[in-house]
Formats: sequence, structure tokens, C-alpha cells
Amino acid sequence: MQIKQHFHLEPDIGLLNDPNGLIQYKGEYYVFFQWNRFEKNHTYKEWGLFTSKDLLHWDFKASAILPDQEYDLNGVYSGSSCLIDDKIYIFYTGNRKYDGVRQSKQCLAISDNGRNFLKKGIIINTPSLYTEHFRDPKVLKLRKNKYLLVIGAQDSINKLGAIALYYSKNGIDWQYHGKLGYSLNYQMIECPDLFNIKGHFVLAYCLQSRDNTKDIPLKSFSVYKFIDFVDSASAFENINLDEDFNLLDYGFDFYAPQTFKDDRNRQILWAWMSRMNDEEEIFFAKKEKNIHCLTMPRELFIENGKLYQKPLEEFYKLLSNTVYDELVKDNIVIDTDYTKLFFKINSIKTNSDVFLMIKNIIRVSYKIKEQKLSVYRINWINNEWEERTCSVDKLTDIEIWLDSSSVEIFLNQGEYVFSLRLYPQDLSTNIKATMNAKLLIKQIYINK
Ligand code: FRU
Repeated sequence: MQIKQHFHLEPDIGLLNDPNGLIQYKGEYYVFFQWNRFEKNHTYKEWGLFTSKDLLHWDFKASAILPDQEYDLNGVYSGSSCLIDDKIYIFYTGNRKYDGVRQSKQCLAISDNGRNFLKKGIIINTPSLYTEHFRDPKVLKLRKNKYLLVIGAQDSINKLGAIALYYSKNGIDWQYHGKLGYSLNYQMIECPDLFNIKGHFVLAYCLQSRDNTKDIPLKSFSVYKFIDFVDSASAFENINLDEDFNLLDYGFDFYAPQTFKDDRNRQILWAWMSRMNDEEEIFFAKKEKNIHCLTMPRELFIENGKLYQKPLEEFYKLLSNTVYDELVKDNIVIDTDYTKLFFKINSIKTNSDVFLMIKNIIRVSYKIKEQKLSVYRINWINNEWEERTCSVDKLTDIEIWLDSSSVEIFLNQGEYVFSLRLYPQDLSTNIKATMNAKLLIKQIYINK
């Protein structure tokens, strides 16, 4: 099957959402994802699968785990993978609705060949402390015979968001340990992820406001915070999830990120590249057979007490022809036919603003006086410019990866990132820039 975008993963048909079960197994990278293969909406969810040996060339393997059991009939929801005894252990949420009433079961599937994922059934029932908004188990191996699971939850008494924590010796029998974190402002936590980079524990999670009376989501976004996590069974943190968090992405389209460690000890993140509302989603995909993609994979680093995200070094192998490479002193206009482009702006004069417009539908601008970076795009519903901003004291460089209908913008070597979708249309890539800086533009090319 052909992947339409150049370097963003998307199935040919249906709707993709969260990345799931990320793992490297017998020399291959596995990226599962939430998939409705029948329609471009959220009425059906199974796990689809892409695999790759080099993170650049991907095979689309189609369906991996189907909703075919009593406990997961209304959706094989998000979850994660772990290598245990040379097998892939997959933890996911079985979603079930009885007369419109939700039931969530945390389930296990095991594979010893990366092809068949054999369901082993329910491993965790929802404790009475939580409502049935209990999902997205993410596993972390602490050491041999010690595994941890975090699960996104809603407290059953106050109906506010929480993260539940479990431990296991074998990945099959799990003991509830307590509430790892709580929210007082948001009604649900989705897709928690606890990971360790060089001894620093990072907790990533999605804060969601819900209307509890109507039981519908209102607004959600993805954040992280550093936590003092001591992995002994007695140590226990009840963390306030509303405090001291940072946004993971400042753009329009980023949600439900998941990370894993590869055999080079890199903590790699993929996210679902969408925060579109229903109307935007329907219009965006009107002429297409599919909707949504994942972000590029990003390596996570801790620098200056912050989490940095950088495109994987493999992706720089895709940079080919140079389209432009000059010191810009003023204004320039470039007309090119290429639609997949890499931009690097550096040696930025500290007293000047930066302005870049691509295809007449995206604008990136840094106002030195306000120390503010803004990204604008034309919204495809109302044709008006919409804006996302971020405060940046000192801007040293901007890197932009432009695919047919996606853009990822990295500032200061990954200190801040903006991810956004662009309405898929056949425009030539007209570029306008006003800056006092070095501008490099290269074509991105992948031999499929
Ligand atoms: C996040 C999410 C998860 C859930 C999945 C269902 O986008 O709502 O909480 O498991 O999507 O597709």
C-alpha cells in the first residue's frame, strides 16, 4: 500500500488516531495505531500496524488486533507494549458499551513472532475508586521482574482526572498500588506515559475537560512534568497534575503521544497529529479516503531542565537537492515546485524579526520586541488565519519539516515544537521571507 505523505505515517483508508504499542522487536520497529478501517469517523477502533527496519521505509501491515471478544467488542482502545521473555506483551483497553453504558477492561495479548497477537483476556478490572473512564495502560519495565503500569482515569467520587498505578512481577498479575496523580481542574486523564531519561522521570499525560453530565469531552491537550519517582513499592507520590506542567507541543495538531526506548537507548516519541473538531475533520477528509497521520518520530532529550524534541537523526538522510542557501538581509521570494521541503534558519541577528510564509497558507513570525513566536495557518472551514504562540526569550534557530499536508516546526534545537496539518491541496511551494539570518532550504526525498 502506498503512503500518501512522504514521511508521516498514515493508512490509505479510514481514520487513524493514537500511536499504540511502540516497540522494537527482532530488529524491526513496530508502530501500532488506533484505526477505523471502515469509515473516517470514531465509531470503530482496532489496532493497525506499520513496521520498519530503518524508521524511514515502512510496511503497512493493516489489522493487528480486532475488537472480536465480549470484553473489547466496542473498541480495542489505546495501550502499549513491552518485551518480556522475548515476547511482545501488549496491554490495551477493551471498550464495551451495554445500553450506552461504558465498561473498560485492561487486557493482555502476547506475540512470539510479531505476526499473531494472541489475546489472553482481562488482566485488570476497574477498581471502585474510579469510573469506567479508565484506559490507555502504559507499561514501563523498571528492572527484571518489576513492571509498572500507569492508567488514565477518572475518580469515582469527585469525577476528576487521575492516574492509577500498578505493579507486576511478570506482566500478567497486577497489583493496584494507588493514585500516582490527581487533577482538580480536569475531568479525565488520557494516555499517561511514565519514562526515564538518564535517571530523570518524566510523566507525560493528556488533560481533558469533560461535561460529566452529558459524558462528552470538551477540550484536551498534552503536557509533561518531571517527577521524583522512587520505584520501590513503599514510596508513593500523589502528584498534582495541574501544577508545573509544560506543553509538549505549541501547534494546532498534537495529541496522545507515546514513547518507547529503542536498542540505542533513545527515548522516541510519536503522537497523533490532530486536534481537529468534528467539522474540521469532516471537511479536511472530504476528498480523501483517509484522515489523520502521526507526527514524525522525535528523540527526547533533557536539556536546561526541559524536555527537548528533535527529529530522529535518520531523517536528515532524506535531505537532498539544495533549493536555497544564502544569508538573507531583507526580503526574498522563492518559487519552487517542490512540496516536501526542509527549512533551516540560523545565525539570526539578535535585533531583527523573522518572517516566513510558505504556500500562502502558513506563516511563522518572531517578534523580537515581544519575544514571541507565532505560527499562523489558514483554517479550511472559514478561510481565516488562526494563530498559536509561544514565548521565546532568545531565538537561535528554526527548523521546519514540510510534508504534503503536515508541518513540524522545531525552535532552538527542539526546545519548542509546533505541529500542524495543512489542508491537502496542490499548491506550488511559494516562499516569502523577511529576516536577517541564514536560510537553508532543501528538498526532502525518500526512495520508497
Ligand atoms: C485518545 C483516546 C484514548 C482512547 C482512544 C480511543 O485520543 O480517546 O483515551 O483509548 O483515543 O480511540
